[in-house]
Amino acid sequence: MKRVAILISGGGSNMVALVESMTGDHPARAVLVASNDPGAGGLAKARAMGIATAAVDHRPFGRDRAAFEAALLEPILAARPDILCLAGFMRVLTPGLVQRFAGRMLNIHPSLLPKYPGLHTHQRALDAGDAEAGCTVHEVTADLDAGPILGQARVPVLPGDSADTLAARVLAAEHRLYPAVLRRFAEGDRNPVLLD
Ligand code: GAR
Repeated sequence: MKRVAILISGGGSNMVALVESMTGDHPARAVLVASNDPGAGGLAKARAMGIATAAVDHRPFGRDRAAFEAALLEPILAARPDILCLAGFMRVLTPGLVQRFAGRMLNIHPSLLPKYPGLHTHQRALDAGDAEAGCTVHEVTADLDAGPILGQARVPVLPGDSADTLAARVLAAEHRLYPAVLRRFAEGDRNPVLLD
C-alpha cells in the first residue's frame, strides 16, 4: 500500500477528491494533509474524513523559504509518504525539496500545460480566445509547472464565460483527473491519462 501526503493552501476540493478515491482496492491511502496556511478550509475537511493534518504557517519565515520548508518537512517525513500530491498548494518549492521527492511528487495545474504556467490561467485562456481549456497533472521538477505530464482533461470554453465560470468547469474536471492519475501512478504506470 502506497502512503500519500497531500499539500494544500485553500479549500482543498482536489484533496477531498483524492482522499475519497483512495478506498477499497486502490493501491494507496492518504496518511497526511499538510498546509502552509493554518486557516486553510481543507484542513477541517481532512480531519472530518479522519486524516491526520499539519499546518506550518509560512508567514513567520518571511523570505527564508528553506527554513519554512525544513519546518514543513518534519510532519511530512514523520508520515513516511511514498507519494506527495500538491493540490492547490500555492508556495513554490525549493529545488532541494523537489529533489528529495523526485519522481514521486505530483501537482495539478488549472491549464492545458505547456500553455499558461503560473497564475491567472483562466483569464489568460479567455484573453487568448481559446476554444478549450482544462487541467494538467504533472510530475514536479525544479522548473515551475514544467515536469513530465501524467494526465490532462479538456473542457470547452463557452460563449459568455468569465474566469469564474471557466474555473468552475475546469475544477470539476480536476476532480475527475487527479484521482485517475494518482491511481495509475500508484500502480507504477506513468502513461498519461487523457480525459475529455
Ligand atoms: C485548483 O484549481 C488547482 O488547480 C489550483 O488551485 C485550485 C485549488 O483548489 N492550483 C494552482 O493554481 C497551482 N498553481 P482546491 O483547493 O479546491 O483543490
